[in-house]
Amino acid sequence: MASIELDGKKYELPVIVGTEGEKAIDITSLRDNSGYITLDDGYSNTGSCISNITFIDGEEGILRYRGIPIEQLADNSTFIETAYLLIWGKLPTKQELADFSALLTKNEMLHEDMKFHYEGFPTHAHPMAILSSMINAAGCFIPEVLEPNELFVIQAARLMSQVRTIAAFSYRKTLGLPIIYPKPSYKYTANFLHMMFSEPYQDYDVIPEVVRALDLIFLLHADHEQNCSTATVRMVASSQANLFASAAAGVCALWGPRHGGANQAVLEMLGQIHKSGDNGSKFLEQTKDKHSGKRLMGFGHRVYKHYDPRATIIKKKCDELLAVLKKKDPLLDIAKRLEEAALSDPFFIERKLYPNVDFYSGIIMRAIGIPLNMFTVMFAIGRMPGWIANFKEIMDNPEGRISRPRQVYNGPTENNYIPLEMRG
Ligand code: ACO
Repeated sequence: MASIELDGKKYELPVIVGTEGEKAIDITSLRDNSGYITLDDGYSNTGSCISNITFIDGEEGILRYRGIPIEQLADNSTFIETAYLLIWGKLPTKQELADFSALLTKNEMLHEDMKFHYEGFPTHAHPMAILSSMINAAGCFIPEVLEPNELFVIQAARLMSQVRTIAAFSYRKTLGLPIIYPKPSYKYTANFLHMMFSEPYQDYDVIPEVVRALDLIFLLHADHEQNCSTATVRMVASSQANLFASAAAGVCALWGPRHGGANQAVLEMLGQIHKSGDNGSKFLEQTKDKHSGKRLMGFGHRVYKHYDPRATIIKKKCDELLAVLKKKDPLLDIAKRLEEAALSDPFFIERKLYPNVDFYSGIIMRAIGIPLNMFTVMFAIGRMPGWIANFKEIMDNPEGRISRPRQVYNGPTENNYIPLEMRG
């Protein structure tokens, strides 16, 4: 029990301890009993839910999906197997995995009429805007799939599979290229690359190392507990909005440069540094001045106050892939120089700013040929299982309530309406 004294009166509040020893003070009854609420701008100290999906220890640099360390999944699993783990809470048997794969294949095609929606977007539309709109639209095309009695597994498979088709189609559309339909014989990630890069007259050469690298990027992004976009998905789902609407909202929340948009911002930053002839040191100095409006993108994290474990994995994969593709990338050299300099700079050390997953993922995507404005879309494809798992957790909770925070009002106190002719 915790106790708090307010206006001379003592209130007892239950303490909740999670399976990994995380402690929380349950304030559910605080306002009813005392009239007080808590205020926590940015939610750094507020647990919005009890969840069984993902565990992060930001101080120790630990990330586990359903208890399994991210390093083990990165070494041994695939994105689809990991998606199953996240959504259904256990690793699938061979049969379960085969069934889920088959369901993904069965649901990979968009309704033909959805193609007309693409015509409505200007060619310069950001693919994240298209993705969010089209995910919501996909829900309208098959209304029966959203009926509460429809099997959730079909909804989940449809969303996971179609998000990849929508993303590839939007890329082709923005370049004025013909749409490439999915190939049922390909696995999830190879199929995505095929839809992105094949031509009607020539199939894309699917290189296993490239497939593995992109699959790893998806897997590493698959969930990350209550971040901005996942919290958004849960918030929307709490109103009992459907899975597609909730995921579309997640895409919008992910878009910003302080969240999923950071991978695009990192590459833009590295490109600008390269173009200016700076070796990174001038730019690094600017990021330390708050008034410069610049940050070292791909550095820092709300939760990790140590190395982001995903960054370690991705950095290694980045080196391996560039070696296989026999590519040298000057931006990778700048990234490594920046990282080295920042990690020994007191400004970054004092604020516990370390590279996050986005610092190196963009270099891999660039090497694969994925255009810059599609980087955040890759993040969204990867995060889909996490959003689905969190949506399911909300829907499976019979005691769940609508998310509705309070506020401390600080505007004008009561005053009277002044008729227009009497206003000065
Ligand atoms: N470069 C320079 N300074 C930074 C950076 C950075 N990347 N990140 C934080 N700081 C500084 C802040 O200026 C602040 O300094 P102060 O203590 O002197 O005021 C201090 O570090 C704390 O920063 P906050 O913004 O309060 O930290 P917060 O936890 O709110 O933000 C965030 C975390 C948004 C990730 C931030 O570190 C950032 O903007 N990083 C760059 C963008 C990025 O890489 N985002 C990806 C996040 S990971 C993901 O979504 C997959």
